[in-house]
Amino acid sequence: MSKHIKSLLLAVSLVSVVPTLQAESNKAEGEYKNWRLISIAHREDNKTMRAILGNHIAIKSAQSGKHKTWQDGTILAKVLWKESRHDKWSQAFVPGEFMRAEAMIKDSKKFAKSGGWGFGHWVNGKLEMHDAETSAKCFGCHVIAKDTDYVFHHAVLY
Ligand code: HEC
Repeated sequence: MSKHIKSLLLAVSLVSVVPTLQAESNKAEGEYKNWRLISIAHREDNKTMRAILGNHIAIKSAQSGKHKTWQDGTILAKVLWKESRHDKWSQAFVPGEFMRAEAMIKDSKKFAKSGGWGFGHWVNGKLEMHDAETSAKCFGCHVIAKDTDYVFHHAVLY
C-alpha cells in the first residue's frame, strides 16, 4: 500500500472516530457542569456514585441557610455514574461509566401540588421535565424528606 493511501485511510478512520467520542462525552454534559457541589453519595446496593450539584440560586440558598426551604429558581442536579475502582489505586472507588443526570426544579407556584418541586432529567445536555406519571413516582418517594423541603441531601459544604 502506498504511503499516500495509508495516510488517507488513517485520516478517514480518524474522521469517523472523533464524532463518536464527542457524542459519548456529550451524554454527560448539561448546564450543571458549571454548577457547584452540594453533596456526594455512594450507593452500596446498586454500586453507583452520585454528585449533587446546584445552580447559583441553590448555592445562595445553601449559603444563607435557606435550604430548609430552597428558594424558587433553585435547580438541583443528581449526576450518576457506575462505581469503579481507580486504575492505579484499587482501594479507591471513583466514578466509572456515566449513567444519567436527574433534576429537581423549585417553583412553589408552578409545582404547588408536588411540594413546589418539578422533576426532570438531562437528555443530551438539555433539561427536560418528566411526564406527570414519572414525576408522581419521584415525588412519592421524596415525601420521606418533607421536613427538609423534600430534598434528601444536606448542603455539606455550606
Ligand atoms: C424510591 C425513592 C426515590 C425515588 C422514586 C426518586 N428518588 Fe430522588 N432521591 C432519593 C434518595 C434516597 C436521594 C438521596 C440519596 C441519593 O443521592 O441517591 C435522592 C436524591 C435526589 C436528588 C438530589 C436532591 C436530594 O433530594 O437529595 C435529585 C435531584 C433527585 N433525587 C431526583 C429524582 C427524580 C427526578 C426522580 C424521578 C425520576 C427521583 N429522584 C425519584 C430517592 C428517590
